[in-house]
Amino acid sequence: MRVLKAVAACALSWAAVNPACGYQPEVNYQLHCMGCHLADGSGQPGRVPSIRRTLVLFSQSREGREYVARVPGVAQSPLSNEDTATLLNWMARNLSDLKLPASFADYSAAEIQALRAHPLVTVKPLRARLLRTTDSRPREP
Ligand code: HEC
Repeated sequence: MRVLKAVAACALSWAAVNPACGYQPEVNYQLHCMGCHLADGSGQPGRVPSIRRTLVLFSQSREGREYVARVPGVAQSPLSNEDTATLLNWMARNLSDLKLPASFADYSAAEIQALRAHPLVTVKPLRARLLRTTDSRPREP
């Protein structure tokens, strides 16, 4: 009964902003990320990088995934590990210029939990190295 009630409540229009409903990646993006990254993820020149290629590209390597989950905006957001994973997976599919490669592995709550426990201290050198070493196109299987 409680579950039914919750489902009914989350079907109402205000549910999109009801934290109890969870898993609202678009709304979480608007609330916690869009102010810097803009609605389409294109960022702001000289201040915030576009994630429209980097998120998918970086997600193809272990080091890149560590960077994504440990970058301050992600590691230190108030979102739960599960909502953060859902958000990144949504962004990779909806705010990207690159077709999602078949090899793309969804982020999991456990992966976010393990990585965000160690937020990055020096962000820029690692980002620069990743840009140098990441293939310009995502790997296909
Ligand atoms: C205060 C501004 C700000 C907010 C809010 C913010 N970010 Fe960021 N984000 C940045 C900046 C600046 C970078 C570049 C790395 C750095 O200097 O921290 C970045 C980098 C990233 C990257 C890596 C992409 C790349 O090319 O380096 C991802 C992924 C990302 N942010 C996701 C998010 C998500 C998801 C949220 C919301 C939960 C968020 N960010 C909130 C400013 C922000």
